Amino acid sequence: MATFVKVAKRTDIADGGRMSVEVDGWAILVFRIGDDVYAVEDVCTHDGQPLTEGALVAGAVECPRHGARFDVRTGKALCMPAVEPVRVYNVRIAGDDIEVETPGS
Ligand code: FES
Repeated sequence: MATFVKVAKRTDIADGGRMSVEVDGWAILVFRIGDDVYAVEDVCTHDGQPLTEGALVAGAVECPRHGARFDVRTGKALCMPAVEPVRVYNVRIAGDDIEVETPGS
């Protein structure tokens, strides 16, 4: 059974913003796009760069190191040099809280 943990309040992340969190020792990047919230592993699959400082453009985060882009909804790698997707995590909204499924669940 999936386990979710609170990582932030909805008001903590502005529309188009993001927050770096750690869940069970995993670095996770949480994005808000409109009323929707997404969570991806904060590690580029090309060479391990954190995506924390990457620009968010049209629903994709761009790796600040070599420019790979990942769809934050699906994790899919959208351009080279990355070919593997980043891991995505289920997110749920519980009242005012943003909860992310723990990586191990
Ligand atoms: S480390 Fe991210 S594109 Fe190379």
